[in-house]
Amino acid sequence: MKAWQLKGFGLENLKLENINIPTPGSHDVLIKVGAVSLNFRDKAIVEGIYEPDMVPNPLIPVSDAAGTIVQIGEGVTRFKIGDRVTSHLYSKWIEGAPGPNEPDFCFGSPLPGGLAEYMVMHEDSAVMTPSTLTDEEASTLPIAALTAWYSLVTYGKLKKGDTVLIQGTGGVSIFGIQIASALGAKVIVTTSSDEKGLRARKLGAKEVINYIKTTDWAAEVQKLTNGKGVDQLLEVVGGEGLNDSVQATKVTGQISVIGFMAGQTTNLNLMEVIFRQTKIQGIAVGNRKAFEEMNKAFDDLAIKPVIDTVYPMEDAVKAYQHLSRGAFGKIVINIS
Ligand SMILES: NC(=O)c1ccc[n+]([C@@H]2O[C@H](COP(=O)([O-])OP(=O)(O)OC[C@H]3O[C@@H](n4cnc5c(N)ncnc54)[C@H](OP(=O)(O)O)[C@@H]3O)[C@@H](O)[C@H]2O)c1
Repeated sequence: MKAWQLKGFGLENLKLENINIPTPGSHDVLIKVGAVSLNFRDKAIVEGIYEPDMVPNPLIPVSDAAGTIVQIGEGVTRFKIGDRVTSHLYSKWIEGAPGPNEPDFCFGSPLPGGLAEYMVMHEDSAVMTPSTLTDEEASTLPIAALTAWYSLVTYGKLKKGDTVLIQGTGGVSIFGIQIASALGAKVIVTTSSDEKGLRARKLGAKEVINYIKTTDWAAEVQKLTNGKGVDQLLEVVGGEGLNDSVQATKVTGQISVIGFMAGQTTNLNLMEVIFRQTKIQGIAVGNRKAFEEMNKAFDDLAIKPVIDTVYPMEDAVKAYQHLSRGAFGKIVINIS
């Protein structure tokens, strides 16, 4: 099969090669990959800044893949040949709380990823693809969509009429806007771009704050919520801005700590957190049970992932470069 292999850090070491199709074990399924989508994690793995000691050489990169089962091991009971499935990043985290070593079993490092014509995985590590989505659309779900869903719905118990602040218009955030508005929440979005703000409104956002023009965006959120603050906030920025997020969130509201674009550490004013009784919830994507619940909701609510660009398999390097430049919606690579 054709497979991209990472043979050292740096995009220049990503090579398209011919290698053997993997053989499924007794509880494995072999998937003819239809499409993969890129996340910040995939880029960081190639650049050698994401758990570099865990990255095998060579590695078939990219965790998020969707395709069709073409072969199954003799012990497989969850799926049959012909089923359309999507990969589940934390491949052994099925339900409940995560185990201590879930990162050891993630696709796209250290386990092989989907940037190849075929991908093998344990039957427990796949979910049925939503029937209303193509492989290109479904490939965007495993990290970006599930992270937003797990924050808002699994931990956040989002209700109709809740207010939600979503930071930015990146991959996780766009899914956050779509999921929260489809479930009847009032969504406020912060963005650096008025043009992206308009696009966020088309996806369901009710209010948009340009965080470049309105630097005290937390005060603006307070105004928009009659001095109360939002019920939930998706923190993709991190760093010192976490203090603003506490101000923008209502007393006893939840901040889902997802990203660290502005820094992996913060000086947090604990007195504000104490007096406001803010719930600060760390997020690491989500478990398979939540993924399956989310897929049903995507079918029921007709949520369609936003894709910026689809690249052919041969142009995978261009796809990574596009991710580095930024996008509105997901960057997808078609493998079929
Ligand atoms: N914990 C987890 O499970 C998990 C899962 C997925 C991702 N992540 C992390 O979450 C972060 C976002 O991931 P992604 O894939 O969504 O990234 P992305 O697609 O690259 O989007 C990043 C967006 O962040 C926004 N942004 C940057 N600085 C901002 C600021 N000061 N205020 C508001 N928005 C700001 C920008 O929005 P505008 O262009 O609109 O300004 C930008 O488009 C990354 O740090 C990633 O590693 C964590």
